[in-house]
Amino acid sequence: MRPPARRIARQLDSVLSIVYNAMPSAGSRLRAMSPEPSNVLEVRDLRTYFHLPEGTLKAVDGVDLTIAPQQTVGVIGESGSGKSVTAQSIMRIVPPPGAIETGEIILRRKDGGAVDVGKLNARSSEIRAIRGAEVSMVFQEPMTSLSPVHTIGAQIVEAIRLHIERDKKKARQLALDMINRVGISNPKQRFDEYPHQLSGGMRQRAMIAMALSCSPSLLIADEPTTALDVTVQAQILELMKALQGQFGMAIMYITHDLGVIAEIADEVNVMYLGRVVERASTVELFKNPLHPYTQRLLKSIPRLGGRGRGRLDAIRGNVPVPMNPPRQCGFASRCDDFIRGKCDAAVPALVNMGNDHYVRCYLRSEESELIYA
Ligand SMILES: Nc1ncnc2c1ncn2[C@@H]1O[C@H](COP(=O)(O)OP(=O)(O)OP(=O)(O)O)[C@@H](O)[C@H]1O
Ligand code: SF4
Ligand SMILES: [Mg+2]
Repeated sequence: MRPPARRIARQLDSVLSIVYNAMPSAGSRLRAMSPEPSNVLEVRDLRTYFHLPEGTLKAVDGVDLTIAPQQTVGVIGESGSGKSVTAQSIMRIVPPPGAIETGEIILRRKDGGAVDVGKLNARSSEIRAIRGAEVSMVFQEPMTSLSPVHTIGAQIVEAIRLHIERDKKKARQLALDMINRVGISNPKQRFDEYPHQLSGGMRQRAMIAMALSCSPSLLIADEPTTALDVTVQAQILELMKALQGQFGMAIMYITHDLGVIAEIADEVNVMYLGRVVERASTVELFKNPLHPYTQRLLKSIPRLGGRGRGRLDAIRGNVPVPMNPPRQCGFASRCDDFIRGKCDAAVPALVNMGNDHYVRCYLRSEESELIYA
């Protein structure tokens, strides 16, 4: 028989190892910060507020988003629902007095590591190295990212030299190749032209060329086709799909156009008043919308012979301004299914109803957001 002292020491050892393994060591905190290897981006409980003299404007108030490599994730919602501020938070370009209050924005780096970009200094060299090279953004208005006083070619060359190729000649060659790939005719001539010399559609292509010139793993597109006419819009969507195939990037596509979402997205996040209120695969969402807001959005799509106007503002009222919002369902003021004493008592939680179809509504689940309970 073993001496009791040794037996007790061994038992103590095994108990301690269980306790240590359960403790959040530095290593396990790092593991917890890393995204699933299958994801490019994981946004967890993101809250971005504007502290204004009138009060706190909660533009983004608890957003969770996951984007897998090469996946196209759509974000849809009416004006003011927090789509752009979510994108600005990921890029760390929220204008003051806006600031990320809490949450994580975990980005998988090209080298396989992970970083919480929400915790980086918005002016740090690390975030500047990430912008453009790992995550890029295209906007509704190309002049947001194109300089009016530099030629298209010079701007793309600069982006390439900043991130991937210092040599001027090689960078110029890469830029010409990009201009060609986005379907701008006569690349050599266009290279030396200024943005104002291009048509709206061509400017949009130039902005996409600049955004993709360093082959980012995630492209955030914030209403990139909204200002274009329908034919050019269709061409730009086709181009983005083709480039996604060639570059293998994931896309977060923001729009208020359900037709565009149906065309391009694998999965849709419906946003309302700073929160995702429903998430599902595109096919599932269009077939079986569960949230009253999504149901109303889908009813606003025009049908042949129907009377719908096809605009999101076909829904009665507007998205309220989220200034000091009450602790209740954000859709309460416009919802026909509003339940007094329940919908105005706490914020419903985003719950998986099965098959990765998530919804935030008391008609579907009794669960409330803990933070607001
Ligand atoms: N710079 C800012 N200063 C103060 N409030 C802002 C600022 N930018 C956005 N907001 C507010 O934050 C909320 C979310 O705005 P956001 O721009 O994200 O909406 P959106 O969903 O992108 O709308 P749209 O479809 O019109 O682009 C709105 O109430 C908006 O007024
Ligand atoms: S929680 Fe209540 S108010 Fe909100 S969408 Fe559901 S039924 Fe309507
Ligand atoms: Mg916007």
